[in-house]
Amino acid sequence: MALVNSKEMFKKAYEGGYAIGAFNVNNMEIIQGITEAAIEEKAPLILQVSSGARKYAKHVYLMKLIEAALEDANASGVDLPICVHLDHGDTFELCKSCIDGGFTSVMIDGSHHSFEDNIKLTKQVVEYAHDRGVVVEGELGRLAGIEDAVNVSDEDASYTNPDQVQEFVEKTGVDSLAIAIGTSHGAYKFKPGQKPQLRFDILDEVSRRLPGFPIVLHGASSVIPEFVQMINSNGGKMPDAIGIPEDMLREAARNAVCKINIDSDLRLAMTGSIRQYFCEHPDHFDPRQYLKPARANIKELVRHKLINVLGCNGKA
Ligand code: G3H
Ligand code: 13P
Ligand code: ZN
Repeated sequence: MALVNSKEMFKKAYEGGYAIGAFNVNNMEIIQGITEAAIEEKAPLILQVSSGARKYAKHVYLMKLIEAALEDANASGVDLPICVHLDHGDTFELCKSCIDGGFTSVMIDGSHHSFEDNIKLTKQVVEYAHDRGVVVEGELGRLAGIEDAVNVSDEDASYTNPDQVQEFVEKTGVDSLAIAIGTSHGAYKFKPGQKPQLRFDILDEVSRRLPGFPIVLHGASSVIPEFVQMINSNGGKMPDAIGIPEDMLREAARNAVCKINIDSDLRLAMTGSIRQYFCEHPDHFDPRQYLKPARANIKELVRHKLINVLGCNGKA
């Protein structure tokens, strides 16, 4: 199987009441850990690349690694659909460059523009992408948290207005829509003592107005306490924080949410594993030694998400 776009994946996910995991990738060990889990669980997969990841690793390296992941899946005999997606594209030029460079899906995040300018920019990307068989995710509403190293404060964040979604989808032609219902980017979503809440009423209203249309949730890491603890008991200093509870994500996945974005949990797993390894083996200095448990923990984390959060195991 070749790299695919997410059209068919989302159609099946919508009908089947599950979601596809969209995992952020930055290096080989992350790509391997995620892909090995997806192969084992026979789960369709989205590997997504932010502009920061692209700057860090270079487009060509990530693309070749993702192609290698696909070959690995093919060699293992699993017909695994893998989609390569640009996460938070902010300009037409960036989206074009990713499309020209082999991505099968792009996000154009015009959520910081006015409604009219968001439509204009998104439509421009859709026209270019669709002519080349590439699908496009748009965004309405604004999440709080860290986006491409920029902190979006709670005051700048805003829930998606369901009154706008039909016009946005009709005028732009987007294939999926990211909405803001209370999730946020990064590892500090809710403070200790705060009760995590998502606006399921907004999700319901959006899906009522867009029947059958795939919705995307960003900022959907659960900030797994075991990994925060692993970091802090091995020399780290992260404040306690609460992420999005798994049962809420599962509930969203049973409804119109077809794509769930996870990055922070992967970072926590990798950092926790490496910190623990360094503390337990202060004399080791071979990167393969400390990256091996990091990759293994990423794989276990992703397996857990595929089965317990997304419900997409066995759907490839
Ligand atoms: O939404 C942001 C993603 O977690 C990507 O983060 O821009 O630091 O790669 P990044
Ligand atoms: P988290 O920070 O919750 O992992 O969200 C990642 C994300 O939305 C990537 O676009
Ligand atoms: Zn995001």
